[in-house]
Amino acid sequence: MSKYAYLNNKYVNFKDAKIHIEDRGFQFSDSVYEVIKVLNSKLLDLDFHISRLKYSTKELNFNYKVNHTSLTKIFVNLVNKNKLKNGIIYLQITRGVQPREHAYKKGLKPNIIAYTTKKKFNLPDKNYRGYKAITYPDIRWGRPDIKTTSLLANILAATEASKKESYESILVKGNKITEAAHSNVWIVRGKKIITHPANNEILKGVTRTVLKNVIKSLKLQLIEKEFSIKELFKSEEVFITSSGSLVTPIIQVDKIKINNGKIGAITKSLALNLYKAII
Ligand SMILES: Cc1ncc(COP(=O)(O)O)c(C=O)c1O
Repeated sequence: MSKYAYLNNKYVNFKDAKIHIEDRGFQFSDSVYEVIKVLNSKLLDLDFHISRLKYSTKELNFNYKVNHTSLTKIFVNLVNKNKLKNGIIYLQITRGVQPREHAYKKGLKPNIIAYTTKKKFNLPDKNYRGYKAITYPDIRWGRPDIKTTSLLANILAATEASKKESYESILVKGNKITEAAHSNVWIVRGKKIITHPANNEILKGVTRTVLKNVIKSLKLQLIEKEFSIKELFKSEEVFITSSGSLVTPIIQVDKIKINNGKIGAITKSLALNLYKAII
């Protein structure tokens, strides 16, 4: 846990960081967030997170101007104050406080909080692990491309996975795969690496963007297209990406073993190359 949290221009003790009960983030999930990975005390892929934050706040018309320099300063201060080596920075920006009413007033003052959490990443070394996943209906709202804290559907999906001793819940819409409860999903079929296109139906993951560049630099074949649950089950390899999970192999989906329940060669190589690219 963080010793210090950032709260609206102040660094306070974690337990003293309090928010008003009519904050719209608290009452309506009227808020956006980012999760930034920190490895060896270094902030990773920060530019991508900041541009996605710009996108989220703009799409929701927040009264907040994203400032690269001041956010970087906050993140660096938190990493230093909390002596964070490996982990994540959580940043949340709410629309602000207003007497409870669905429609928001213009010009509210956003609440900004950030703190750090230690984390052991699933790195492609001798401890590299593959995990089970389940499938679950994608019942989210129509704009998962905006990184909001409106995550109830993801929470239900993730909790079901956890009950079934699985790491992730792969979301199914109709008969196609969109992404997962807290990551993007990729399959490998006949040397082709396939993932859902970045449109309004998925969150455009920062790790997804970085991995796409890695795949291109390795001259592997990348296809951004929709794929079905049937194709998922018949894949040679399945993996997920996120800032918290990096490239994590999925070796079983529901009752179906993928690659005989072993980590695939392409997944491992992508994990190694992503690690090299970000570090
Ligand atoms: C629904 C969803 N998709 C994808 C991702 C991966 O995004 P990123 O790589 O930026 O962490 C996340 C991360 O939290 C997520 O919640």
